[in-house]
Amino acid sequence: MNPKEIIQSKEKGNIIPSSDLEYFINHYLNNEFDDDLMISFLRAVHTHGMTNDETISFTKVMLDSGEKIEFTDSDIYVADKHSTGGVGDKVSLILGPVMAAAGLAIPMLAGRGLGHTGGTIDKLETIPNFKTSLSINDFKNNVEKIGICIMSQTETICPADRRMYALRHQTNTIDSVPLICGSILSKKIAEGIKGLVLDIKIGNGAFMKSLDQGKSLGRALQSVGESFGLTIDIVYSGMDQPLGRTAGMWCEVQESIAALKGNGSKDLMKVVYELGSKLIIQSGITNDQATAISIQENLINSGKAFQKFEQMVDLQGGDLNNLDKFIQPLFEENITAKENGYIESMDTLKIGWATVELGCGQKSKLTQLDATGGIEFIRKVGDEVKKGDPVFRCFNSNKSKLDSTIELLSDSIIIGDNKNYTKLFYQSYN
Ligand code: URA
Repeated sequence: MNPKEIIQSKEKGNIIPSSDLEYFINHYLNNEFDDDLMISFLRAVHTHGMTNDETISFTKVMLDSGEKIEFTDSDIYVADKHSTGGVGDKVSLILGPVMAAAGLAIPMLAGRGLGHTGGTIDKLETIPNFKTSLSINDFKNNVEKIGICIMSQTETICPADRRMYALRHQTNTIDSVPLICGSILSKKIAEGIKGLVLDIKIGNGAFMKSLDQGKSLGRALQSVGESFGLTIDIVYSGMDQPLGRTAGMWCEVQESIAALKGNGSKDLMKVVYELGSKLIIQSGITNDQATAISIQENLINSGKAFQKFEQMVDLQGGDLNNLDKFIQPLFEENITAKENGYIESMDTLKIGWATVELGCGQKSKLTQLDATGGIEFIRKVGDEVKKGDPVFRCFNSNKSKLDSTIELLSDSIIIGDNKNYTKLFYQSYN
């Protein structure tokens, strides 16, 4: 079949044989046809989906389009975590060092902010001189040396995904289960990992609004990932309010450092420990969840987890000295409660877009990110408030953006009189 016939076949809802998927994607990568045809193909997959076997073949073509990392020391459990994205989700910055301190090897290729959600790479780059573009060799060496490296996807890892993902962004074809599976899993498999834990966020601030949607993505990721020999566990965590105490740029790194020093908020640490326990159990260190949690607590309390974070920053050229003084927002403003009562819910999607407005996410390619930007959540769902009490503190270094953020957030909190409202710290749907 030629490229047009392959697209027409998918448009009719047919299964595309693996040889045709390979032919189509490789010819695109060799610039033998242009973006228009690839866009038609992505739209056809978005509309008609793919079978499980087709998704496996698709993932393999994406994976084979680039370099793969291999870790040869079979005594070390090489693993990673992937989150479907949320607001205030700084879990990778904490979980990675904790897992490295536990003796696992974590080669983490992380992403930038997507839509209303923050990106690990954007946050890490607020640390002066911290390098997120390393050669594959340096990436691998760092993981072998200290057990962790977090960097962005390179030109040579899954180039098919790089090009197709950019088109998916432009054409609203991101939310397709097979396309997401191929994109995420090809990059994870290329890292050379054995184990993976998925944090699938569910709620009004997540891409997956319902548990059913989350579960169908989870099942597909697990089935495709396992066919490549990965061990995969899934945690479904709540995103009906932001995670932790802050959402934004440097403030999230600062909060992660506090968490690594033993001062993490309860909701945040619950997600970290839940995911971490899955990886620790996969690695064979223990098969008991309570023990896996206490291993992680001990690594934090002994300072070993924070030491890993410091080693990682150091090896990647970053400088953590006096940052709280240097990265100071010029402006700040509170959002206050409009009435007495209890916070019953938060519009987490709106809060996510508010962080983007503050300068913590890219509205266009020209957006300059603001390392000082973010929101502190002074109160969370279930907390009592009096009229005029501060609920959020918003900060950045651009007054007009701060003003538009305040407007955006003005009706993002619902206050009611339900005293018995349960706190939505965390929901595990496992
Ligand atoms: N993140 C990715 O890397 N790919 C997707 O398709 C969606 C989120």
